[in-house]
Amino acid sequence: MRFILFSLLNFCFLGVDSESIEKARIRRMLEDRLRPRRRESTYQRSSEILHRSPRKMDKRIRPFEDIAPLNVSINLFISSFDSIAETTMDFGLTFIMRLRWQDPRMMFPDITNEKTYNNRTILTMDLKFLDELWVPDVFFANEKSANVHQITSDNKRLRIDSAGYIYLEMRLSATLSCHMRFEHFPMDVQVCAIEIESFAYDTADVNFDWDSTPGGVELARSIELPQFKLQGHVLGKCDSPRGNFTCIEGKFILSRQMGYYLIQAYVPTTLIVMLSWISFWISINATPARVSGRGCSDSKAINYHFSGRNYGLHDRDNVSIYSRN
Ligand SMILES: *[C@@H]1O[C@H](CO)[C@@H](O)[C@H](O)[C@H]1NC(C)=O
Ligand SMILES: *[C@@H]1O[C@H](CO)[C@@H](O)[C@H](O)[C@H]1NC(C)=O
Ligand SMILES: *[C@@H]1O[C@H](CO)[C@@H](O)[C@H](O)[C@H]1NC(C)=O
Repeated sequence: MRFILFSLLNFCFLGVDSESIEKARIRRMLEDRLRPRRRESTYQRSSEILHRSPRKMDKRIRPFEDIAPLNVSINLFISSFDSIAETTMDFGLTFIMRLRWQDPRMMFPDITNEKTYNNRTILTMDLKFLDELWVPDVFFANEKSANVHQITSDNKRLRIDSAGYIYLEMRLSATLSCHMRFEHFPMDVQVCAIEIESFAYDTADVNFDWDSTPGGVELARSIELPQFKLQGHVLGKCDSPRGNFTCIEGKFILSRQMGYYLIQAYVPTTLIVMLSWISFWISINATPARVSGRGCSDSKAINYHFSGRNYGLHDRDNVSIYSRN
């Protein structure tokens, strides 16, 4: 009996003991994980880079000031077309805008065992570094409203490589105005553009270009639109109406899909017209039946069919469709 009690106690103590050891091990492991290791050196290096010479690294002065205009490469990764609204003449885009430019003040010696891009060490920086950098003042000339996504934190990415190239990415949603024409509705092709300009710096200071390496505009695999088919895009330069400001534009060619209108408008009207032919079978002597019976009900049916349905177009636009041809 005494032996059993002793061994039971012993077992309990041993159990507690091994449990506390396990806890301590996990705590150590967690502490170890929380302690910055390799990253610390990276951080120190990058903050050294940023604070190496505060006089030279003045973010109020653009890179290559007094030397040459700064070239900024821009790439858009379009994740979705949100809406194409005829009534308000605009369309929505959700995309990632990637900017790349060189700031020689941000050059640093290559670090071994770090990630490389084009054989140059590249560091991912915290967004706080953005406050200390000169950043191009990009704006969308035909924008109605736009916002940077902030869930769950600012959707931005900042990287710097050893040659001083700065890679800034941000995820945006924008509603952009698009002048649409409806002469050929519903067989129309709309060209909607995104115009990217620098607000303050003219072409003597900053030039924008579509990025050549991945291509200026990349599309997510499946862009599906209910009424339109994206036929392709054309990239080019544009003239800013405000003066000599750098301006690039991407035009999206959207052709309307006929299917909806075929089923909703063409087929029913054809059927109604064909129904009206029934009156020819009514006896020639039954004049009132032929005139009031069929004719009236047909026109009523057509009226009924088209009232309250304007195919997403505003009345004003409907008038312009018919008056313009
Ligand atoms: C930008 O591009 C222009 C034209 O290609 C060139 O003359 C200029 O030197 C470039 N700027 C820089 C900073 O490389
Ligand atoms: C990177 O460096 C390696 C070896 O020096 C070279 O073979 C390769 O072509 C370089 N790649 C680029 C993109 O410059
Ligand atoms: C715009 O640039 C052109 C060519 O560089 C120049 O001739 C013209 O004077 C500039 N216009 C303005 C308003 O600065």
